[in-house]
Amino acid sequence: MDNKKIVLSGIRPTGQLHLGNYLGALSNFVKMQNEGKYDSYYFIADLHALTTNPDPKELHTNVRHILAEYLAAGLDPEKSTIFVQSDIPEVSEMYLLLNMHVGIGELMRTAAFKDKARKALGITAPGHDDDDEDVAKEIIGASTNKRVNAGLLTYPTLMAVDILIQRADFVPVGKDQEQHLELTRRFARRFNSFYKTEYFKEPQNFNFGSAPVKVPGLDGSGKMGKSEGNCIYLVDDEKTIRKKVMRAVTDGGPTEPNQPMAEPVQNLFTILKLVGTPDKVEFFTEAYNNCSIRYGDLKKEIAEDIVAMTTPIRERIIDIENDDAYLHRVLEMGAERARARAGKTLADVREIMGITKF
Ligand code: TRP
Repeated sequence: MDNKKIVLSGIRPTGQLHLGNYLGALSNFVKMQNEGKYDSYYFIADLHALTTNPDPKELHTNVRHILAEYLAAGLDPEKSTIFVQSDIPEVSEMYLLLNMHVGIGELMRTAAFKDKARKALGITAPGHDDDDEDVAKEIIGASTNKRVNAGLLTYPTLMAVDILIQRADFVPVGKDQEQHLELTRRFARRFNSFYKTEYFKEPQNFNFGSAPVKVPGLDGSGKMGKSEGNCIYLVDDEKTIRKKVMRAVTDGGPTEPNQPMAEPVQNLFTILKLVGTPDKVEFFTEAYNNCSIRYGDLKKEIAEDIVAMTTPIRERIIDIENDDAYLHRVLEMGAERARARAGKTLADVREIMGITKF
């Protein structure tokens, strides 16, 4: 167990998981867990969620949801360490320590921060992406009563701590988190060079040995996200799934053989490839190419394949979500293991930084 490489990933509890989260990330976590090649750590980043000041009840419900969804999808507390970030107090302490080596400027230049800060301040982005003057001016000027909280600024420190405190080797995250991972590596290098140590290793992104799966949305463009009419949740019932898929955007249909597919149609085929069998993909591709395709039939096939894939998961989600005793046990186990590793790292870090007992 001890010499296996560590894989770690976290998710912010901001709502229910959709098919994109499942196919793009969660199903791979489960596969990797079952292969047994890595020692895996999956956690719910509730402290990160606090940066956007959620309603307390809603936050708790969301943590419960995601935990139930992880377990229902096949993450197994006997095989993976599954925990809630706030159950590991060592994380909060190391966050304070690491912040001593993190620059305000580099945090202010982080894309995710600029985005969220602009939202909090109610200002629109300038035409060019890498201009952060507007955010800086607005924050320091403080002419309004709107504020960007310090937790939002130090979000990358907290994320770096999540990763470094468990000494993770691989961190499977999407493109939007790559900058945070890059900062993590930079903080690790800086710590090492300041204290003349090799203590932290630099964690790498990880994409399951193949190109990352991008699940398109149902509204004709882009990827599946939380916007209306575009996404299917793991907890959606059969009727809802059918309704959403039948409403998916298509076009007027092919008018000549082997015509290139418009994006919305291509998206449906991409989804079919992810949820259906190869012979169905072949059947509908041929039907498209010889202009005999009926989009209604294609959608029905997709809807039924999604239903078949998600129904057992949904049923388990509902069971697990109502089982407080089980959730409690899972998190107790997870916290114990995660704290053991974190505690060791924190003790070392304190020592390296000169906080030693008399
Ligand atoms: N910031 C990540 C996201 O929003 C969640 C996260 C927090 C995370 N800590 C992490 C992901 C550590 C990977 C590793 O998706």
